[in-house]
Amino acid sequence: MSPVPAKLLKNPRAKHDFKGRTCSIAAVGSYVPEKIVTNADLEKIVETTDDWITSRTGIRERRTAAADEFTSDLGTKAALKAMERAGVKPEQIDLIIVATITPDYPFPSTAALVQQKIGAYRAAAFDIEAACSGFIYALEIGQQFIMSRTYDTVLVIGAEKLSAIVDWTDRNTCVLFGDGAGAAILQNRPGAHGLLTACMGADGNKADLLLMPGGGSRNPATHDSVNARLHYLRMDGKETFKNAVNAMLAAATEALRRCELDISRIKVVIPHQANLRIIDAVGQRLGVKPDQVFVNLHKYGNTSAASVAIALDEVVQTGRVQRGDLILLVVFGAGLTWGAAVIEW
Ligand code: ACO
Repeated sequence: MSPVPAKLLKNPRAKHDFKGRTCSIAAVGSYVPEKIVTNADLEKIVETTDDWITSRTGIRERRTAAADEFTSDLGTKAALKAMERAGVKPEQIDLIIVATITPDYPFPSTAALVQQKIGAYRAAAFDIEAACSGFIYALEIGQQFIMSRTYDTVLVIGAEKLSAIVDWTDRNTCVLFGDGAGAAILQNRPGAHGLLTACMGADGNKADLLLMPGGGSRNPATHDSVNARLHYLRMDGKETFKNAVNAMLAAATEALRRCELDISRIKVVIPHQANLRIIDAVGQRLGVKPDQVFVNLHKYGNTSAASVAIALDEVVQTGRVQRGDLILLVVFGAGLTWGAAVIEW
């Protein structure tokens, strides 16, 4: 049974303002590497054209990390910005969750490396892996720790160095992805705005649509596995596309239903930045106005777990939302996984 009296449900904040406890997003931050790889640059390494990439995806350029810059470095830079804006000191952080499919190592976790780099010596740290849906999964997990009174300050990061697992000889995938990171500080700030709901889903029946076959216990690194290029990302683009539209629509609808909100109440919709055609299809079916939807994939491509985290930071820093405005995040990725979150900024 819901702990919230039915009469309060018309107020979307009521569900997440339980006994004075809220999960507030105190601040966000993001970082993208300096190096820009344009579609024209890709024309020189695979058989593709700027016109094909732009018309099929909307992507014009993406960022790639330097050879000595890793996922933990990207995540650290995003985290430090969020911490500064939130006025949070390293020793205040209770927990660090990093969502990534490109950890620095299979183990230890990238979260542990970030903990060391930012000096958050009190914090517990772990990674989660839900591909492009990772940031919403991490937000939901962080929220549970805050609402259960286990922790007061949680650092959530989505960070990827996808350039390390992209097959730069495969035009089907190498044009799509980029590197970057976004971070959010979750805190219990009674009375403050925050995360109203987050919902998550998965379908392991479709795991084959999008995967990196090598490097795990099934295909550990051998000369043969490397020669067979198993350590690169593979994707059935067409099937992934169809599933993405349906899953994102279902997730967004569920998140709005839980908050008893109509889409017209949402100031900005931030969809996973994979493909402009997916974003348009989802937006149309949700009934959003074009100016409600935030898009930055032309600059960064698909940065997987970092995608909506970077976009949320850009939405906030450019003043597209004011405190109190409602934001809908909606994501989809390998697994398959999907999710949506409503934030009262
Ligand atoms: N340049 C030129 N031609 C290309 C390129 C390229 N870069 N890539 C593929 N092609 C060719 C294909 O070989 C194919 O040629 P063929 O017909 O001779 O075989 C043709 O273009 C058409 O390919 P399609 O697969 O039909 O292209 P489509 O319109 O489906 O677009 C795309 C492909 C962009 C990958 C799209 O399917 C897509 O965006 N899918 C979803 C990806 C996604 O959302 N991923 C999210 C999760 S990512 C994560 O979790 C890590």
